[in-house]
Amino acid sequence: MASGSGSNFEAVAIACREGQLAAEVALLVVNNVGCGASQRAGRLGIPCQLHDHRGFSSREALDQALIASFRTAEVDLVVMAGWMRIVTPALIGAFPGRLVNIHPSLLPSFRGMDAVGQALAAGVTLTGCTAHLVSEEVDAGQILVQAAVPVLEGDDHASLSARIHSQEHRILPLAVDLAARRLGLLQG
Ligand code: GAR
Repeated sequence: MASGSGSNFEAVAIACREGQLAAEVALLVVNNVGCGASQRAGRLGIPCQLHDHRGFSSREALDQALIASFRTAEVDLVVMAGWMRIVTPALIGAFPGRLVNIHPSLLPSFRGMDAVGQALAAGVTLTGCTAHLVSEEVDAGQILVQAAVPVLEGDDHASLSARIHSQEHRILPLAVDLAARRLGLLQG
């Protein structure tokens, strides 16, 4: 699941292709037409479906459409790789322990929108990223993998985001691997 540039989606797809993650990305769903993630899927040869939230009457209705897509694609695990919509209990309940999110802060600090901006505004010298299971409370599910990222003198939103992104690309495949092992989907 992706809404924007899709660099985390691509990191997972490449980890699968290069054998670091014993999985296959069966499907990408996006909610923004023409977003970077959908373009990356095209380049990677991964099927991509658009579920534009603007065409649904409620969050629940969007999530029901997502569930139907994932069931049709027979996915074992779902990754929110920069999905900028709040998900409902319907989606969480359809994939218990199987819904992984990546968030650009060291949770439980800086939950919610613009975690990078929140970290800069707070003046912390250390932030990072967290891959976690999704629970009904936003950005509060069981933590799988975290990476710490320093905030450097003179950092702005773009420079700090870039440093966090490179760590996200490293930990998200690790978190998918860990979640899959805990579910018994991967052995060895
Ligand atoms: C990532 O930094 C991810 O942590 C963040 O969106 C970015 C997506 O980048 N997600 C959230 O803020 C979710 N609350 P990408 O499209 O390049 O993967």
